Amino acid sequence: MGEAIGILGGGQLGLMLAESLDRLGRDTVIVEPDPDAPCSTRRGNVLAARFDDANALQIFFSRVEVATFDSENLPSMPLAPFAGRLVPSLEVLRVSQDRALEKTFLAKHGFRPVKHAVVPRGADVRAAALAFGLPAIAKSTLGGYDGKGQHRLTTPADVAAMPADAPGGWVLEEVLSLETELSCVVARDGANAFTFPVFENLHQHHILDLTVLPARVDPALQQEARAVALGVARALDVKGLLTVEFFVGTGRDGVRALYVNELAPRVHNSGHVTRQACTVSQFDALARILSGVPLNEPRLHTGGWCMGQLLGDVWLAQGRDGGPLDLSAWRDFPDVVDVYVYGKRHARPNRKMGHFVVRADDATTAAERARAFRARLMGR
Ligand SMILES: Nc1ncnc2c1ncn2[C@@H]1O[C@H](COP(=O)(O)OP(=O)(O)O)[C@@H](O)[C@H]1O
Ligand SMILES: [Mg+2]
Repeated sequence: MGEAIGILGGGQLGLMLAESLDRLGRDTVIVEPDPDAPCSTRRGNVLAARFDDANALQIFFSRVEVATFDSENLPSMPLAPFAGRLVPSLEVLRVSQDRALEKTFLAKHGFRPVKHAVVPRGADVRAAALAFGLPAIAKSTLGGYDGKGQHRLTTPADVAAMPADAPGGWVLEEVLSLETELSCVVARDGANAFTFPVFENLHQHHILDLTVLPARVDPALQQEARAVALGVARALDVKGLLTVEFFVGTGRDGVRALYVNELAPRVHNSGHVTRQACTVSQFDALARILSGVPLNEPRLHTGGWCMGQLLGDVWLAQGRDGGPLDLSAWRDFPDVVDVYVYGKRHARPNRKMGHFVVRADDATTAAERARAFRARLMGR
């Protein structure tokens, strides 16, 4: 067993975590099959292999003391022989990667998932959707992210047009009338559990677009979100990080409530903002837990903060298909405190290529400035 810390997944989340581990003086080894992933530039530390490659996993675990992951969409079976060294645990990975298990777990422990029905593989999803009632959203049980594998079903024609099969079967959900989306990251080691401030998340085309801090929702609701996030982390016995995504909205029954949408046992896209907005970033928090270094409570710096996503569309609007971005517009935005470009070589629409963080006097101004900055980058 080596002394390094392992990361399964070398996307931007894995990269920022690796940077935090660097700063604690820890070596990292990363498994990442995609040669255009952000971590591919960390030569020497990257094993270019698929996550189900048993030989590569053997080599990886011979070099690392513990390993974590930057996505829950990993095959869990090949990791079983190394379960004792996964942080969070294999069980946490299994529950959070499977929408059906996740929702069943939440309901069983007294949390509030969105009203749903599980449709196992091979069962007739179309009949199940009509029986569940429309409108509904059908989500593939396994493998979805950024709205992929989801079908919004408003009319019987939508039901007829949807695919019959999905990885792991389907979960049908009622469509909430959404007011706000929130997320809360819990950092939990043996002795302590802390929550980060609650993030307010604005999505576009099912992809996180802006994260705003402090969240512009009732403090009592934020307290509830923190308590639920801590409760879920405890119920799952998470070591490491757990991000809980929430909906504030009203269901078919007319009840307005805080619903748990989904769980991500890892650093999260909405937590990028913590690198500037908080005394401890989500990446530093996980790096400390993985390294056995004490963790202190993350606190929010004063002011309003906003993280804005930079999708491939921004590069395409500049007539570039990848590489550096023309950042000359930054001159007029001294309140943009950071731009982070992930180094992916190929820009595609909706591909997450970078992000930036704005600090302003309040959250609403920060969000407005983020929109204005991105519009300028896109030449609008
Ligand atoms: N039941 C629902 N009611 C209303 N909007 C939803 C519902 N489920 C998903 N959405 C919208 O789609 C987005 C992505 O869905 P989510 O379940 O979080 O999947 P992903 O794994 O792609 O993030 C959510 O952030 C939300 O904006
Ligand atoms: Mg989501």
